[in-house]
Parts: sequence; C-alpha cells; structure tokens
Amino acid sequence: MVVMLLDHIKVTKLEWDSHFFEKGVYIVETSDFSALKEYLSKSNEPALYYLFSNIKINELSDRLMDHKMTYAIDVKGIVNFPTPNSCVFYDGKNARTAELEHLAVLSSRNSRFRTDDLIPKNKVDELFKMWIGNALKPNPATKILLKHIDGKVAGMVSFRPTPDLLKIELVAVREDFQRRGCAAEMLKACIGYAQDHSIKRIEVVTQEVNKGACELYVRAGFKLVDSKYIYHVHTT
Ligand SMILES: CC(C)(COP(=O)(O)OP(=O)(O)OC[C@H]1O[C@@H](n2cnc3c(N)ncnc32)[C@H](O)[C@@H]1OP(=O)(O)O)[C@@H](O)C(=O)NCCC(=O)NCCS
Repeated sequence: MVVMLLDHIKVTKLEWDSHFFEKGVYIVETSDFSALKEYLSKSNEPALYYLFSNIKINELSDRLMDHKMTYAIDVKGIVNFPTPNSCVFYDGKNARTAELEHLAVLSSRNSRFRTDDLIPKNKVDELFKMWIGNALKPNPATKILLKHIDGKVAGMVSFRPTPDLLKIELVAVREDFQRRGCAAEMLKACIGYAQDHSIKRIEVVTQEVNKGACELYVRAGFKLVDSKYIYHVHTT
C-alpha cells in the first residue's frame, strides 16, 4: 500500500481496485479542496480517486457519487425474536451461484460504482459477482444468510463477524419477493447471530438515496451513526 503524505492531503493507493480497474485507484483524504486541485493537476496517469468527505464540496458537485449512511445497532440487551428456521446459512447446496450473483448485482443498485457514469455497467456487475464469488469460497470470514420462499432464494444478507463488530455487507431481496418482510427477518437473524456470539454491535452501510433501505434499518432499530459524501474523480 503506497501512502503519499503532502501538505493537507493524504493519498493511499488501493492495490486491489487498481488491478481490477486497470489504472491507479487511490483514496484521498483532505479537507482542503485547493490542495486536492493542485495534486490532481500534477497527476499524469489515468487514475481514479475516491474522495471521502464530511462536508459537501460544491466544486465537485458533478462528481458526487454517494452520500454514504452508516447505521448501527447495539444488540446487547435488546429484545429480538427471530422467526425460528426462517433463515438459513449458505451451505454450498441451498442456493445456486446464479441466484446469489443476481442478488449481489441487485444489492449494488445504488452503489457509487453504478452511479459513476465513467465506470462501465458490466464492470460493476463483474465487481459484485466477484465479491459474492469470493464469499462462496470455503472461507469462514464471510457468512451468507438466505431467506427461501417456495424453494427459491428470495433474499440474501452477507456479513463479516469479528469479536467486536458484525459488519453487514450485501443486502438484497429479489424484486418479486420485496415488501413481504424478508429483509426485516434476515436482519432479525443477524441480530440473533450477534447476540448468540457475544458480538455487541452491528453496522450496515447504505446510500441516502436508497430510502427503502434507510427505512428498513431504522424500522429494525438501527440508528444513523455516520455519513460521508463520496466523490469519484477520474484523471486521464
Ligand atoms: C431494500 C430491500 C433489501 C428491502 O427488502 P424487503 O424484503 O422488501 O424489505 P421488508 O419487506 O423486510 O421491509 C421492511 C420495512 O422496511 C421498509 N421498506 C422496505 N422497502 C421499502 C421501500 N422500497 N420503500 C420504503 N420503505 C421500505 C418498510 O418500512 C418495510 O415495512 P412495511 O413493508 O411494513 O412498510 C429490497 O428493496 C432490495 O433488495 N432492494 C434492492 C437492493 C438494495 O437496495 N439493497 C440494500 C443495499 S444497502
């Protein structure tokens, strides 16, 4: 990981993203727009910069990709009644890869990669299919929770449990099964998992424009704990 520290600006190269997008991809941390402008004016390679900011940057309004909302819930002590046997973990047999890939792509509907008109849509599909593909490998780091209806996979939540935090990653319910309480049930199952494993807190990230998802998390007891504006700046 390359970190460049200049006055008022920190730039970190993201190796995986750079490899995937076949150009330099960097995270920029700064609160000084003129420092960023000066830095970008010196960039002489095709590159993509992700800029995370607490405040809106008017000069970059056309490159605003996401207002990322982080919701969290402290599960200790909360009363949670998951419906017994309603959700199951992926076991290698109870879902087809194509079903999970469809849900992974659906989960990215409002992602900053899809909002970015300079990133081809098929590349975004590939990104999310790779994401779920990695989670399907024998690798206990990511858990995939499924909700079945009539023998079909109606919805999926993937999450990463650590001793202190359960981080929800992908959330999606098939279009024809939405608004039947599937996502709410899967969230209850996540809360149940955290409580059973003495994990105190759950976090999930969504986009401000995704009103349905924001409403879902608030209804499930989550609170908004952070928000960030995310800009994508491409240089050629
Ligand atoms: C967001 C999503 C996961 C919700 O799944 P769902 O199974 O339809 O949600 P539920 O039926 O459990 O909804 C529970 C509550 O959340 C809220 N909610 C869910 N979808 C909503 C929507 N589209 N608009 C407004 N509120 C919504 C409602 O309060 C709902 O309760 P109600 O139906 O009694 O009013 C689903 O719409 C989806 O997969 N969307 C595309 C992918 C996506 O946006 N994923 C989230 C990424 S963070």
